[in-house]
Amino acid sequence: MIGVFDSGYGGLTVLKELLRQLPQYDTVYLGDNGRTPYGGHDAETILSYSRQAVEHLFAQDVKLIVVGCNTVSAVALRALQEEYIVKPQRKDRNILGVIFPLIEKAVELSKTKRIGVVGTRATVASEAYVHELKKLCPEGRIVQQACPLLVPFIEEGWDQKPEAKMILKKYLRPLQSYNLDTLILGCTHYPLMHEAFQRIMGKNVHVLDTGPTVAASLVDYLKRHPEIENGLSKSTNEQGATRRFLTTGDAERFKTLGSRFLGQGIVEVKRVKLQ
Ligand code: DGL
Repeated sequence: MIGVFDSGYGGLTVLKELLRQLPQYDTVYLGDNGRTPYGGHDAETILSYSRQAVEHLFAQDVKLIVVGCNTVSAVALRALQEEYIVKPQRKDRNILGVIFPLIEKAVELSKTKRIGVVGTRATVASEAYVHELKKLCPEGRIVQQACPLLVPFIEEGWDQKPEAKMILKKYLRPLQSYNLDTLILGCTHYPLMHEAFQRIMGKNVHVLDTGPTVAASLVDYLKRHPEIENGLSKSTNEQGATRRFLTTGDAERFKTLGSRFLGQGIVEVKRVKLQ
């Protein structure tokens, strides 16, 4: 099974694309809605919550975890890989994040190599995007902007309200003077406001969502890693694949709000405790 994990609903925008590009694989989604948002927490707290999520998923039949969260990928991914994959020398399972595929795609799309990143406070403070860009394209330049108010608005279902768009405009104003040609939406909640981002930044800026890029890189990863792919449970037809949804928050609310992120109905959700 492929496990997708996020602090809340955002990772469902990654799962949505994953189901589109890799429909045959069984999936389980875990949203830590009871403790969302992660973006304002310190690194130690984010790592400790993420450890609990990873252990919960690996205790099921999960062989591959896709961290559908920029914050966790930026702050905790390396430590999680070290602890659960590298040190115990597990070649039959892995944990993948979203930062590298996004930077790779942004570098491919950008002509000027002036790239913007918007995300949570923790993602911006980690400078994970800055470090990855330096390795991949040393002449490139990243301008970052934290947008801490967006996640609560989006989780509340208020992403199309004028108040949310006004706040977004204010956040993006400093980025507009940098002549960026690519903007990474470095938070998996933001695709719900994709159109507003695009309208404010203008049509000459590529606005990059996490989901499609990460799903495409996963297709490629699975081709190159048969030792992982062979261990994933799958169905011969799309209808037959298992879709499980777990939350640490309210299961009924997850069904209603989660469906907006996933772009399809969610029928069954189980409430779980992480510790
Ligand atoms: N969806 C998460 C991300 O991609 C952030 C949400 C949060 O702050 O918990 O960064």
